[in-house]
Amino acid sequence: MNQKINVAILGATGSVGQKFVELLTDHPWFQIAELAASERSSGKKYAEAVNWIMQTPLDQEIGEMVVKEAKANLSSKLVFSALDSSVAGEIETEFANGGYTVISNARNHRFDDDVPLMIPEVNPEHLEMLKNQKSTGTIITNPNCSTIGMVLALKPLHDAFGIDTINVVTMQAISGSGYPGLPSLDILENVLPFISGEEDKMETEPIKILSSIENGKLKSPDIKISAQCNRVPVIDGHTECVQIKFKTKPTKEDIIKVWKEFRSEPQLLNLPSAPKLPIHYFDNPKYPQPKLHRNLENGMAVSVGRLRECSLFDYKFVVLSHNTVRGAAGGTILIAELLKAKNLLSEI
Ligand SMILES: NC(=O)c1ccc[n+]([C@@H]2O[C@H](COP(=O)([O-])OP(=O)(O)OC[C@H]3O[C@@H](n4cnc5c(N)ncnc54)[C@H](OP(=O)(O)O)[C@@H]3O)[C@@H](O)[C@H]2O)c1
Repeated sequence: MNQKINVAILGATGSVGQKFVELLTDHPWFQIAELAASERSSGKKYAEAVNWIMQTPLDQEIGEMVVKEAKANLSSKLVFSALDSSVAGEIETEFANGGYTVISNARNHRFDDDVPLMIPEVNPEHLEMLKNQKSTGTIITNPNCSTIGMVLALKPLHDAFGIDTINVVTMQAISGSGYPGLPSLDILENVLPFISGEEDKMETEPIKILSSIENGKLKSPDIKISAQCNRVPVIDGHTECVQIKFKTKPTKEDIIKVWKEFRSEPQLLNLPSAPKLPIHYFDNPKYPQPKLHRNLENGMAVSVGRLRECSLFDYKFVVLSHNTVRGAAGGTILIAELLKAKNLLSEI
């Protein structure tokens, strides 16, 4: 690999922004060149603007960088966005119109007709949609954190047996609500049975992601999804209980086999952030657990377990994924690596 590509992180001070900084420090292909956030932070040294909550120490040189405003006058042409959704839509459009490649975690552009909603192992062929974008730059979006874990587990099952119906109940970590997140008096010793907008995202995003593509146009699969989303007192790692009905019911052994054998483009291309095994299957009925399994393969693999027959659907199982790594910053970096490997960043 030649020289590293300079990248900027928008929303660098937040929960996902910090995870970007942590994962991109010493990245083999990308170099953090600029950090940007709101007026509250811009002009300050990053170490002073951020309340660093990562478990690895903040790199000294990065701590010395002065935070910029999130305006489309940055020198880095590859931009990772971890902006709050109240501002992300407009700012990301400005960057795309300014010729930047924006890869975003925010929800704002996820359902634009010409914007891929991408999990690199699931729908890399959706990059074809970029040809339809009218701006000089591009926008690609990373799905919602709970969607990503579930859809990674569903993809090989859908390809092999066809999915008919999904019912899912989530137990989502506190870090998913950003920094500083929820008041301790609300979440400690408690479960919150409402996360604004989350159920809608869980019911609609998988349909776009699992769509087939013909001539740049998406064709939705015929899958029905019902979701119930809860916030639980876990710091990182979303756990989801999934019930599934197939078009053609497989055996339990068939399901385990396709999970274990699942590999996709990121694995074939040997991308730096790609997990060797995207899906780790556990037989132990006590697994998966956020505390034990969220960091598998640097937080980029999903864990599944508790696969058993269901009296209402065909089967039920539990899936776990790291929400700020696989579900946010790590997943987004993997998209950038895919672009690089496919020579879609050659202008940068
Ligand atoms: N947390 C997760 O697990 C997760 C997962 C998937 C997707 N997401 C999405 O990723 C995005 C970031 O989430 P988060 O949890 O990291 O949120 P967060 O902790 O609240 O961070 C928000 C970031 O946006 C910046 N910001 C706010 N207003 C701004 C403005 N007017 N101009 C420029 N920057 C502004 C903040 O900068 P200041 O510090 O300067 O205010 C901060 O850096 C959101 O869209 C969220 O929905 C989050």
